[in-house]
This record gives sequence, C-alpha cells and structure tokens, in this order.
Amino acid sequence: MQEQKRSWAEPYKIKSVELLKMTTREDRVRALHEAGYNTFLLKSDDVYIDLLTDSGTNAMSEYQWAGMMMGDEAYAGSRNYYNLEQKVQKYYGYKYLVPTHQGRGAEHLISKILIRPGNTIAGNMYFTTTRLHQELAGGTFVDVIIDEAHDSTSTHPFKGNIDLKKLEALINKVGAKNIPYVSAAATVNLAGGQPISLENLRAVRALCKQHGIKVILDATRAIENAWFIKNREKGCENRSIADILLETCSYTDGCTMSGKKDLLVNIGGFLALNDWDVFEEARNLTVVYEGLHTYGGLAGRDMEAMARGIEEAVQEDHIRARVGQVEYVGERLKKLGIPIVLPIGGHAVFLDARKFLPHLKQDQFPAQALAAELYLESGIRAMERGIVSAGRNKETGDHNYPKLELVRLTFPRRVYTQAHCDVLVESVEALYSRRNKITGLKMIYEPKYLRFFQARFEPLK
Ligand code: F0G
Repeated sequence: MQEQKRSWAEPYKIKSVELLKMTTREDRVRALHEAGYNTFLLKSDDVYIDLLTDSGTNAMSEYQWAGMMMGDEAYAGSRNYYNLEQKVQKYYGYKYLVPTHQGRGAEHLISKILIRPGNTIAGNMYFTTTRLHQELAGGTFVDVIIDEAHDSTSTHPFKGNIDLKKLEALINKVGAKNIPYVSAAATVNLAGGQPISLENLRAVRALCKQHGIKVILDATRAIENAWFIKNREKGCENRSIADILLETCSYTDGCTMSGKKDLLVNIGGFLALNDWDVFEEARNLTVVYEGLHTYGGLAGRDMEAMARGIEEAVQEDHIRARVGQVEYVGERLKKLGIPIVLPIGGHAVFLDARKFLPHLKQDQFPAQALAAELYLESGIRAMERGIVSAGRNKETGDHNYPKLELVRLTFPRRVYTQAHCDVLVESVEALYSRRNKITGLKMIYEPKYLRFFQARFEPLK
C-alpha cells in the first residue's frame, strides 16, 4: 500500500540519448510559415519537444533492441511471426493473427472483408483512418458514444462508453443485417483518450449477440484502457492489467491494432481474429495489400520488437508511469485554470481551444491556430483535433463541425522527462496569458483525404 502512494517516477534509467535542438523565435516563424501553419508539415529538426503524436515515437528498451538483432528475415514463416502470434494469443486472447504494416493496414483489411456498400457501422466516436476505411468500403459510420464524451467538462469516468439506447435505436432503424459490426475503440482517441468500461463492453456484446452483429475492437490503446479500468471500475482494483486486457478482448470478435502506441515500437500493427473464415479472407487480402501473411509489411525484427513490446506494455509499473506522466501535466494545467478535457486521458492532455480562444469562430480553426502559436512560443509541436481533423460531410461537402475543438499534447512513451513536462506547462501558461492576441487562420490548400495531414493555412488579417 505504501508503494501505491509514491509518485510515478520513470521505471527505467537512460542508457542512450538523442540530443535536442533548440531554436530561436525567428527560426520558428520561418519554419511555421514554410509549413503552412500546419504542425504536420514542420520538419522534425525544427521541433524542440515533439508532442505531435504517441504513434511510433516510443523509446524501445534494450530487451526490444536485442530482439531486433534476432530478426529472422525469411520471406515466409519467420520465427518472429510465430513469437508474435504466441504473444497475441496469450495477452489479447484471439486465435488468429495477420500482421500489418500499421493499424490502418488492419483497418483496410477488415473494412474490405466485412463491409458491403450501403452498410452502417456503429462506433464510439470515430477515428480518422478507421472511419475513412469504412467509408471507402461503402459504409457509413454512425457515432453512438455517450453524450458525455462530447462535453469537455464532463468528468464521467468512462467517457468512451457506447450509449446502448443509441445503438439499439440504430439497429431498429437500419436493421441488424445492415450493420456488419460495431467498431469499439479502447481508449477513444478523439474523445480525449477516454476509456470504455468492461461493464459497457459486456452489455454491447450481449446486445450485438442478440442481433447477430460482430464487435471489432480498436485495441490500439487497450492497455491504457485496462489501466483506467483497474483504477475506476468496481471490483477491478486488484486485478492485473494482463487479466483486464484479456477480458476486454473476450467481448469482441477481433481487433485492429496499431502497435505504434501501446506496444512500444516505431512501426507495426496487426489484425487478430477468432473467426476462421474472416481470417482466411484477411490472409488472402494481406498478400494483395501488405505482404505475405507471415510478415504483413513488416521486417522480422519489427515483429520481434512488437512481441517483446507486448510483454513490457502490460507491466503495471510501466503503465502506471506512462499514464502518470500525462496526468502530471494535466493536473498542473488544471491548477492554472487552463481549459483541458477532463478527466485527463491516457495518452494525451487535450487543450480545449473553444474555451482557450473564445473570440474565434470554429471555421477560423481555433485548435489549428492554437497549435501553431504553441510552436511559435516554445518549439513544442502539438496536433489539431477539431474541425480540420473532422473533414467534410460526404453528402453536403460542408465542414463537419465537431463539438470538440482540441489541441492534443501527446506523450511518446518513455521519451521525455518530468523536466520537459515542466517546460511544456510553462509554455502553455505563457500562451494562455496572451490568448486574446491570438488570431484565427484561413485554409488555403485542402487535400482530398485526411486533410489535417497536409492542409495549408495562413493567418487571418
Ligand atoms: N486507431 C486509433 C485509436 C489511433 O489512434 C490510430 C492512430 C489508428 C487507429 C491508426 O493506426 O497510425 O498505425 O495506422 N493514431 C495516430 C495518432 C496516428 O496520432 O493518434 P496507424
């Protein structure tokens, strides 16, 4: 018990370092202008602390690096594939594994296999690439997350939960046979890294079973989700993370996975399934889109690093410090009165740009503008998660106007120290004190797909 009260200090020491580059404000003005005010278009060499994403930005352990040297680069039947298969079976509990180059590779495969034109896919909020693959396969995504998820001030402990009434109403409206699966994410990235409870997943499973609808889990951050379950769900406080993860997956028919998050690697993902027929089709399609079914676009060494990453990711001291670091920053910002999404999420602290910059209209891209200003202020790179990320309505062509207009400060795993966190807090505080002077942006270039990656902006006069 005594140990529980200690702070979340990093459960590792540093053996190899990567030097950071400091920039001047003048450098940053030039770099941001060249990048069209889009932090995705900045060169990483122009960034001081990179909080763009927790995807593929993790620091691997010596155990993982040692595994990289054990890569079996055979075209077919690499030993690292079998090791990964065994770890996925043990920790996630699914029977069959198809490795993919990253999460969206798995999303592509499952969308193509299960979705027919005209189908509806229900899910808790949405994720950009997941929804796009569902749409490209001819489906329409419908958000059935609980209302609290769209309210940045609600402190509901499981804001990732699915609203069973909304799901049931949707089933009644479009018919169960037109819903190939429910797309359930743990945690929900765009809601602010918010968890879904075991109780909710269990109920979703029961409802879907009644109607013959599959449940596909986005397990990208399911280990972080398990940490929240352990801390917030009744009866789970003494269970291990591995045990909770297994139960989470047990309510689903398969998962898509971006190993670049929870699994502490720089590249990799997988599709895991229980149904042989779906697996067989996935293996067929992998050969077309990813690579042979025993490597799926990955080198043997990458599969080994991911297999070893699973073992480390479910360790309690790891996940406690991982989420603890995010919480540390969130709590400090909260104390300063800076508007953030509550409760604090698992992989990121989300600034509420609507409240931060109330003088800007949503089509002046407040979150995009705030991310740009944070970079100018400090060289810290964050990401917009608001109207730009939400894209356009398929039918009307108008912007989607999401309720949440956020800037995501995302924490790579095992990369930055508490002192970096302090610099971040000071930088956001400085920005907050001059927030009235921050102006909006105009979009001057808009790509067709996933526009937030490559869109360009200029400041409004
Ligand atoms: N699902 C979730 C919940 C994600 O956050 C991501 C990626 C994916 C799927 C797709 O996986 O990138 O390996 O193809 N999220 C990254 C992010 C890009 O920054 O949040 P991927």
